[in-house]
Amino acid sequence: MQIITAAQVAQALDMQRCIDLMKKALIALSNGDARQIVRPVLPLYDRNVLGMMPAYYSSGKVAGVKILSVFPENYQKHAPSHQGQMLVFETETGSVKAIVDAESLTGIRTAAVSAAVTEVMARPNASRLAILGAGLQGRQHLEAIRLVRQLSEVTVWDIRPEAATRYAEEMMMRTGLPVRVCASAAEAAREADIICTLTPAEEPILCAADVKPGAHINAVGACTPVTRELASDLVAAGRLFVDWKPATVIEAGDYLLALQDGAITEAHILGEAGKVLAGAIPGRVSESDITIFEALGQALQDLIVANYVADTLK
Ligand SMILES: NC(=O)c1ccc[n+]([C@@H]2O[C@H](COP(=O)([O-])OP(=O)(O)OC[C@H]3O[C@@H](n4cnc5c(N)ncnc54)[C@H](O)[C@@H]3O)[C@@H](O)[C@H]2O)c1
Repeated sequence: MQIITAAQVAQALDMQRCIDLMKKALIALSNGDARQIVRPVLPLYDRNVLGMMPAYYSSGKVAGVKILSVFPENYQKHAPSHQGQMLVFETETGSVKAIVDAESLTGIRTAAVSAAVTEVMARPNASRLAILGAGLQGRQHLEAIRLVRQLSEVTVWDIRPEAATRYAEEMMMRTGLPVRVCASAAEAAREADIICTLTPAEEPILCAADVKPGAHINAVGACTPVTRELASDLVAAGRLFVDWKPATVIEAGDYLLALQDGAITEAHILGEAGKVLAGAIPGRVSESDITIFEALGQALQDLIVANYVADTLK
């Protein structure tokens, strides 16, 4: 059995490779090539939880479960928000094949999923990226999105201005792109073609008036039924796509609270991103559409990445 550390995950996998793997994962999730159950989430105390994320990828002949703690306010303690391990099983005899660091898996695959979806949903000439939430995902998303669109400017906002300033300095050095710190989420989003919401916010940070026609939004943070980053009017204004619908209807506050407000109906979910990637349903249909990808994060994504890393390092 292999025991794979965060450093080894980083060594075995670059972002472009991860984006390609995540296209495969999103498609497999939507075409029946994989099996999942909606993750059991055990509340601990305050907002902290322990999550168990199982998946079976039949054509890959692997199954696995990611077990991780999610402590959304850990940024205040300078600790990671997601920590844990993933167990990977081969499915010939059911033996454990690898144990893989889950913080690094989650870190890279989440941004790679957003980039895979952005590639098919953002306007081809989209060049201005807004990052809302200057944490680990803020960093990973800039690294990922710049691989699928030619970026000209990045705006960043965080509830802690010092985090946004640190982010801008670090990411300008790393990418060579101009990164402008904004005083509000609305200011950061106003001119953006691609917006990534990457915060543990409990209340909306963006509404419809903040977003220009033609923008694509990756809604990634706030993955519980009672928290959200997007106001109901913004969800209603967008063409809504999801990573895995059985989870959306149980876990996604952006969707469930808009439904509860009466702003949308259940028919507002147009489909899973995997179907758009496979060409089975349309994503963006006009230049002026606002497209929204609601990302909760799925076990199959972790499994495909963990298995790739294990095979590469063997
Ligand atoms: N959908 C997925 O697959 C997936 C995967 C990983 C993380 N997430 C979620 O994405 C979010 C970011 O994760 P991370 O690992 O980057 O976390 P992190 O702790 O590294 O960064 C979070 C950042 O958000 C800022 N922040 C906190 N509250 C805010 C608010 N109300 N408004 C604006 N900014 C705020 C913090 O200052 C911090 O800089 C979390 O909510 C996490 O649960 C989702």
